Amino acid sequence: LDNGLNAKPAMGWNSWNAFGPTINEEIIKDTADRLVALGLRDAGYVYLNLDDGWSDLKRTADGRLTANKTAFPSGIPALAKYVHSKGLKFGIYADAGNMTCAGFPGSLGFEEVDAQTFADWGVDYLKYDNCYAAQQQWVVDRYTAMRDALNATGRPILYSLCNWGVAEPWLWASGVGNSWRTTEDIEPTWDNVVKLLEYNVGLSQFAGPSRGWNDLDMLFVGNSRLGEYHPFGPFYQEQRAHFALWALFKSPLFIGHDLRNLNSSFVDLLKKKEIVAMNQDELGVAGDLIWQQGTRKIFATALAGGSRGVVLWNLQTTQSQYPLSNITVFWEQIGLGGSQRATVRDVFSERDLGVFSGSFSAAVAFHDVAVLRVTPVEGPLDDSWRPWHAQPL
Ligand code: GLA
Repeated sequence: LDNGLNAKPAMGWNSWNAFGPTINEEIIKDTADRLVALGLRDAGYVYLNLDDGWSDLKRTADGRLTANKTAFPSGIPALAKYVHSKGLKFGIYADAGNMTCAGFPGSLGFEEVDAQTFADWGVDYLKYDNCYAAQQQWVVDRYTAMRDALNATGRPILYSLCNWGVAEPWLWASGVGNSWRTTEDIEPTWDNVVKLLEYNVGLSQFAGPSRGWNDLDMLFVGNSRLGEYHPFGPFYQEQRAHFALWALFKSPLFIGHDLRNLNSSFVDLLKKKEIVAMNQDELGVAGDLIWQQGTRKIFATALAGGSRGVVLWNLQTTQSQYPLSNITVFWEQIGLGGSQRATVRDVFSERDLGVFSGSFSAAVAFHDVAVLRVTPVEGPLDDSWRPWHAQPL
């Protein structure tokens, strides 16, 4: 979508995974303070997004959306102002059907008035959901109506489509929104993280600065257990695999954890500079799967300046007696010359591992990743390779 907000995947925090519909202005203000205090804003997480549950059950007499007065006694404009005063941007949630997923008023038929309300309130980001609108054939029209209404306000509002991939949004959404969800809701389990990632394999060619971004859903990086029915939160190595792969795939990166109790090791993980830099890279090429054999997978992308981002992933299903798996990436697989010399950098530890020609191997722990930046030390520097050019698997 050509509203000037397409250059890079968005980054921020979203209220849904931690708070669901029981969100209030104190939590949002506190989160704004913590995004700043924890250094997350300065690491790039600038959008603070209020998800479903903010609205009153009824529109006002003149047909406008209005906040739940108990949870948001100061009102949304004051809250947006507070968020802005912290150097952050403010996002909100609405729905392209008759009701939001949590049962609050939908925007179908109210696109213009709602877009204008959001613009008047100082909203910078709209997550637009797809509940209570059964007619899939209208999906493009419904999302386009809100795009046009947002554009008509004159305020640049990042437009994030949330329709869980049911209508294959990567095929039509690039002129409609800045990003589109490609899957159903993320759950804090390893199996679910793997499933969402696999679902996105093959979609890299549909993303980019001139198109928009595949949205793999909000991050579950953190130390939480989300309710009784998701008893198993991933381990640290699983969480860093989750984070690195979301970053490589150029998904918008939205923290989903309650910042009041986010363990500092996960704050540090979210702030990993070179992982974030891969996500925010100027070239804007989404990563994709380029090789797999059994439980070993290689993902790669092109980065500005002729580098490649490479993730080696050990997906063993059970913690066997061989917790380390050797994975080798060959230069030909990532569009470099077979004997070209290239510096290999470990992106997590931010250390150069040396100069290698032809290939690089790493021993990767159970469910862990090795994240590499491979940069040729001599020409030719080729910016034109894309992950979808990789040989068939
Ligand atoms: C849908 C979305 C979630 C969240 C909820 C809110 O399930 O996919 O991300 O916004 O609605 O009700």
